Amino acid sequence: MSTFTPSAEAITDVDADLLVLPVYEGPEAGPGVRDVGRAMGVDLLDALKDQRRKGKRGETLTVPTLGTISASTVLLVGVGKRGKVTADDLRRAAGKAAGAMNKVKRVATTLPQCVRSTEDAVQATVEGVLLGSYTFDGYKSKKDEKKDDAPKLKDVALIGKSADARRAKQAIARAEILASSIAFTRDIVNTPSLDATPEWVAAQARKMAKEAGLKIKVWTPTELEKGSFGGVLGVGRGSARPPRMVELTYSGGRASQKPVGLVGKGITFDSGGLSIKDAKNMEWMKADKSGAAAMLGAMRAVALLKPKINVVAAIPLAENMPGGNAIRPGDVLRHRNGKTSEVLNTDAEGRLVLADALAFLAEKDPTAIIDAATLTGACMVALGDQLYGVFGNDDALVREVLAAGKATGEPGWELPLWDGYRSMIDSPVADIKNIGGPYGGAITAALFLKEFVGDTPWVHLDVAGTAYAKSGTDTSPAGATGSPVRTVVRLITDRAAPKRR
Ligand code: BES
Ligand code: MN
Ligand code: ZN
Repeated sequence: MSTFTPSAEAITDVDADLLVLPVYEGPEAGPGVRDVGRAMGVDLLDALKDQRRKGKRGETLTVPTLGTISASTVLLVGVGKRGKVTADDLRRAAGKAAGAMNKVKRVATTLPQCVRSTEDAVQATVEGVLLGSYTFDGYKSKKDEKKDDAPKLKDVALIGKSADARRAKQAIARAEILASSIAFTRDIVNTPSLDATPEWVAAQARKMAKEAGLKIKVWTPTELEKGSFGGVLGVGRGSARPPRMVELTYSGGRASQKPVGLVGKGITFDSGGLSIKDAKNMEWMKADKSGAAAMLGAMRAVALLKPKINVVAAIPLAENMPGGNAIRPGDVLRHRNGKTSEVLNTDAEGRLVLADALAFLAEKDPTAIIDAATLTGACMVALGDQLYGVFGNDDALVREVLAAGKATGEPGWELPLWDGYRSMIDSPVADIKNIGGPYGGAITAALFLKEFVGDTPWVHLDVAGTAYAKSGTDTSPAGATGSPVRTVVRLITDRAAPKRR
């Protein structure tokens, strides 16, 4: 992995192969652009203008230095309007520059200087570089191909004031924990379902828990049976690979302090079951374990960041397959809290496994429960791929989650937990049925979950649109994104230390 170091050297003095310099919209020179231009004997802004670039957010221009300075290349990146640049703009700019950075060994950048808070700026910049450098190539066999693409990046000097170095170092450490936890999440999501069985995901969790210092219990099918987890067992029945549930405990607060509860949907493959899905895009359904993987990544980050708070996670894992033992439409399942659900569509399986896990966590009397799930195509239709849906039974908690998401450049949008639609999931034979009508599918799914949290303040994040991307973004290649790890970790660390992170 590459090393990030705060440096108070002049950008023209650092020993680097590549200088990554910000430009503001106009174009206007960002920190270091004039000094480097002077040393090269050129006007770098003219170079931009010649290419008809305006220095807008996301624009880049590579300028060879032709031996005028020791660095061989300057990369100009647009970060937005001067004075309006946010930490997230830096995260994206750094993510965008990550490709070029990984072709060389030593990089220096003044990017963090564009945002006033050194800590936020440095953390976001380092996150951007690391998230943008993520690759998933363990299934490629051609070693040569891998070698050519292999990231070369060794050292990144973050140029800033020497007085800020201590805080910058802490920010770097936090960014490294967050980015490596997101990579852990992405790896689990990207791993094909042939290999990523419920047992495999549980084994990843066990290894992680050991390394990060978390308490773990993996519930076996027999234990799930004894514990009345009828939803997890029901959904898992059609698969030859039996379900599990991962329970993780982080104790950073006082023993008497009530915990925050986390739940993540872990369907290792969603074929739809007997209500089988269309063949088109079914391969995406390896990503139906994204909520589970995100909560595992969030727990890893929390364990390493060590905030003074208690957190428990319950992560149900099952494969939804149409085997001879599978549940049928019309079957009734009994959940952890005793409520029964009529399964009218076996493809609405996420709510069935989440119901048990939510009820289980609610028994622990947590201050809040947050669940993340690739729950409905309807949420994707409503909000697209940049916003996850936020539903909750407690307005203050909903605001808290929305603020945490916004603060870390991973926004959600509130959708209504509209009680008027509750009757759509009334069942003639059981307490509740697992599908609503043709419209408002994300809402009726959330209303189903609400039945299992009791009075606990609870927020449900429908990440169907954000967890898995068809094409890459500045901070993520195509595939798993890691959404909503940053939001969840931010919420937990903010709760532990209300003013600072
Ligand atoms: N995992 C899917 C939701 C999904 C669809 C996530 C597309 C990401 C992309 C979920 O289990 C599902 O199948 N939901 C159904 C519910 C319906 C049967 C009520 C849906 O959204 O179509
Ligand atoms: Mn489904
Ligand atoms: Zn699903």
